[in-house]
Amino acid sequence: MQQRTIGDRTVSAIGLGGMPMSIEGRPDEARSIATIHAALEAGVTLVDTADAYHLDPTDVGHNELLIAKALRLAGSAADDVLVATKGGHRRPGDGSWYVQGDPAYLRKACEASLQRLDVEAIGLYQFHRPDPAVPYEESVGAIRDLLDEGKIVMAGVSNADPEQIRLAQEVLGGRLVSVQNQFSPAFRSSEAELDLCAELGIAFLPWSPLGGISRAGELGDRHAAFAEVAAERGVSPYQVVLAWELAKAPVVIPIPGASRPESIQDSARAADLELGAEELARLDAA
Ligand SMILES: NC(=O)c1ccc[n+]([C@@H]2O[C@H](COP(=O)([O-])OP(=O)(O)OC[C@H]3O[C@@H](n4cnc5c(N)ncnc54)[C@H](OP(=O)(O)O)[C@@H]3O)[C@@H](O)[C@H]2O)c1
Repeated sequence: MQQRTIGDRTVSAIGLGGMPMSIEGRPDEARSIATIHAALEAGVTLVDTADAYHLDPTDVGHNELLIAKALRLAGSAADDVLVATKGGHRRPGDGSWYVQGDPAYLRKACEASLQRLDVEAIGLYQFHRPDPAVPYEESVGAIRDLLDEGKIVMAGVSNADPEQIRLAQEVLGGRLVSVQNQFSPAFRSSEAELDLCAELGIAFLPWSPLGGISRAGELGDRHAAFAEVAAERGVSPYQVVLAWELAKAPVVIPIPGASRPESIQDSARAADLELGAEELARLDAA
């Protein structure tokens, strides 16, 4: 598997997104663990999660607990895995999401994630989403304090615009290692953040890289050019999408979600699919 970097860590160029294994429509635990183990077998060493990947408030951290369990069961095969979690998003239990980004809450959330992941320090902790009620520098300041105290090893942000990325970099004293924003053939408006990350040497993790859980299945129908290149290459349209994202810049590390082993096995193969300039131009124009 092709490798890329987040801060000083080397990780697989394709990560695994954990959300589909913990929100509405999630599979049973055995299938989720098989999916995570299939990712490890395919060479995936980055797993993205969040405390908010759960159904209702009695279930907070479902995805973190699941990933911790799967990694424990995998033994030494999980030694090189970087688990990236997030804090600052919450779910009341009716299917909706809301934000909470005050420093006291973020500290409490991080401490709870530490316990669930059963680690001394979280490998990568990301501020999930800006809270309009809290100045951005205060939220990111809480992440800086966690970094200074050694509770987290690396710090990232998510759903940030270019101005917020620059501010986070300043507040963290140059230690911002990743930005996780939505990016896919259907959602290209975060290209400005992707370009800024490439310029600053910060990892850019596209979320919903295949268009999101409910739309991924229609990917080939909605984006004909990706399906055409896939047919020509004899690979799935999912692989073409992920390879197109990887080709955007060396800092890009997509985190496709999966709730079936077959999905992540197929997605992982995108790391070895090199698209030519003519193919990339067709996909950019599509
Ligand atoms: N930071 C944020 O605000 C934010 C927001 C949303 C998501 N995320 C993160 O980003 C990750 C990815 O986003 P997402 O899960 O929303 O959407 P996605 O990756 O665009 O799509 C996920 C769906 O695609 C299907 N899939 C994946 N690879 C496939 C393949 N090779 N062939 C066929 N189907 C495939 C999976 O189906 P099966 O379920 O059948 O395997 C899965 O349900 C999440 O898991 C989460 O970690 C972050």
